Amino acid sequence: MDVIEGKFFIDGEIKTASIGIENGKIVKIAKNLTGEKFYSIEEGTIFPSMIDIHVHMRDPGFTWKEDFESGTLSALHGGVTFILDMPNTKPPVDSIENFRTKLKIASKKSYIDYGIAYLLQKKEEKYVQNEVTSFKIYMSETTNIKPVNYLLIPEIVSDIEKNITVHAELQDCIDNNKRESKDLIMHDMSRPESCEVSAVRYLGDIRGPKFHIAHVSSPDTVDLSKIFGFTTEVTPHHLFLNREMDLGAFGKVNPPLRSSFISERLRYLLSNGNIDVVSSDHSPHTLEEKSDFASAPSGLPGVETSLPLLFQAYRDSIFSLDTIVKVSMENPGKILKIPKGKIAPGYDADLIVVKLSDSRRIRSKDLHYKCGWTPFENLWGIFPRKVFIRGELALDNFEETIEPGFGLYYSGNR
Ligand code: DOR
Ligand code: ZN
Repeated sequence: MDVIEGKFFIDGEIKTASIGIENGKIVKIAKNLTGEKFYSIEEGTIFPSMIDIHVHMRDPGFTWKEDFESGTLSALHGGVTFILDMPNTKPPVDSIENFRTKLKIASKKSYIDYGIAYLLQKKEEKYVQNEVTSFKIYMSETTNIKPVNYLLIPEIVSDIEKNITVHAELQDCIDNNKRESKDLIMHDMSRPESCEVSAVRYLGDIRGPKFHIAHVSSPDTVDLSKIFGFTTEVTPHHLFLNREMDLGAFGKVNPPLRSSFISERLRYLLSNGNIDVVSSDHSPHTLEEKSDFASAPSGLPGVETSLPLLFQAYRDSIFSLDTIVKVSMENPGKILKIPKGKIAPGYDADLIVVKLSDSRRIRSKDLHYKCGWTPFENLWGIFPRKVFIRGELALDNFEETIEPGFGLYYSGNR
């Protein structure tokens, strides 16, 4: 048995304890334990690491923007030890062959553990459901993906038992509001909150699955989703950035950044438990691709800065530690049914050591993205000093200590 001792954040409290680890899993929590490998953490608090259930690692097909190696290294430095990768790659993950191709790539390159989401456009065979981690439905057009015919959704989802995440913006509504956008305010007007609300309202009439609504950008969507029993996620850019900021194309994302008033409401809804998950929707594009507003593709990088921004928001009295642990660790683990996200026996020993006084400014030069920029430049963040994945030290004193290929695939068949 290996042992880590220190101050752990467990059940809403910081407790001095030792945890025993066997085969990567937590087997015991006690006051004092002895073990073969023994880590005594003197400085900082130990939390579960983040599970980011919405990232685009761009691999295969768009690897000039990011790939599994650079993207998961970035994640590791941001305290994330599990990602769910989205299917809008090239080729998209819309067949079991394409799924297996991506799995092979990820298994060679990924530093951290991962799941793979499958693009749901038609009724799928049962075996697909057993192999993949999760499903994704796009109700509007996005990078390399045409929207699903939404009238088919009830039939397509009828046998699916695993998580179905939906990009809920209604294409018809977007088409009706189409305009040439030159700035973030016009971009917001071209894809208004009402497109998100109408998409969720439509999903609410479908019997069966409890959908997971990706990147909510409207408080009304959150309220409606609650009524329908859906889970929701919000991104750090919708929480901490807004359309009034001078970001240009570096703030162009779908759904769009809204007003500062809306982002404040979203922070409030997260802090009182009405939004279930924070995920990054890490969607990098290059500096060159982002050079002209009108033609720039939508999407922002974020997998390395989500948790640092949340810990900073704790220091700024915006969120409690309890909220942060629920929305970035416990709830995403539950949604995907993976044994991660909690410091408890039976769970993977995926842990981060964070010193809550470690605030530093976020600078793109310190991040590990291929794209070389962040929309959060100069904001404050608190990065983890150490990261453990399945009990192995993976990041020590802000430096990675593992190699690409360390990460394992999780299908969520628990
Ligand atoms: O802005 C976005 N970019 N929103 C999405 O949903 C997809 C993403 C991308 O893949 O670029
Ligand atoms: Zn996305």
